[in-house]
Amino acid sequence: MEKVLFNNEQYEEALEKLDQLMREAEQISDVDHKVLLYNVLQYFDSIHREPLARIMNALTKHPDLKNRIVQDETVQKLCNLYDLAIEDVPTEKEGVVGFVPVENVGMLSIPKQKDWLELGNYHELENQKLYPKNYERVNFLISRIGSEVFAIQNQCDGSVLPIDKGTLEDHYLICPWHGCRYDLKTGEAVNEANKKLETFPVEIEEDGLVKVEISY
Ligand code: FES
Repeated sequence: MEKVLFNNEQYEEALEKLDQLMREAEQISDVDHKVLLYNVLQYFDSIHREPLARIMNALTKHPDLKNRIVQDETVQKLCNLYDLAIEDVPTEKEGVVGFVPVENVGMLSIPKQKDWLELGNYHELENQKLYPKNYERVNFLISRIGSEVFAIQNQCDGSVLPIDKGTLEDHYLICPWHGCRYDLKTGEAVNEANKKLETFPVEIEEDGLVKVEISY
């Protein structure tokens, strides 16, 4: 295909430069800056991934055109960078910064920050009640079940909907929207495969102080 802005070699050089920059970014020790960079890359990724995926999907209806387009070396590389299968519908890789797949360039791993929160006294928590909480944009809920306290993500897996209006049956939390049944101990859904909520460590001190460790 004709060169538009730069040729294949220059494109390859740009990729190598990106690879090098990602490796340098990996060395950033300041967590705030690293998180900021990570977020920028995530949004960059989303902004490009969605329309690119739509273009590739639309092209499946025009196989001749698609074949011509995907012959182009730079198009192939771009599809690889976004994990877009040239033949199939694209898939997301879970838990990675998709902008730069690990096979191609260095990855940016984000260290999570953790804080222990003091959330009142165990004796003040009503048994079998859900208490929604928020810390550093992490929505979670705590609940006392008998002598234990559990802390779990307050957002149904695969949805933006909170689950603190759900019902409790022993240590199972039933999502109010479509009935997903989560085990508070593990976070796993017992009636839906592959659904899971994040759980957070809980400690109850001798005087009854409840502490929850939130990662964000
Ligand atoms: S939103 Fe929770 S089961 Fe659908």
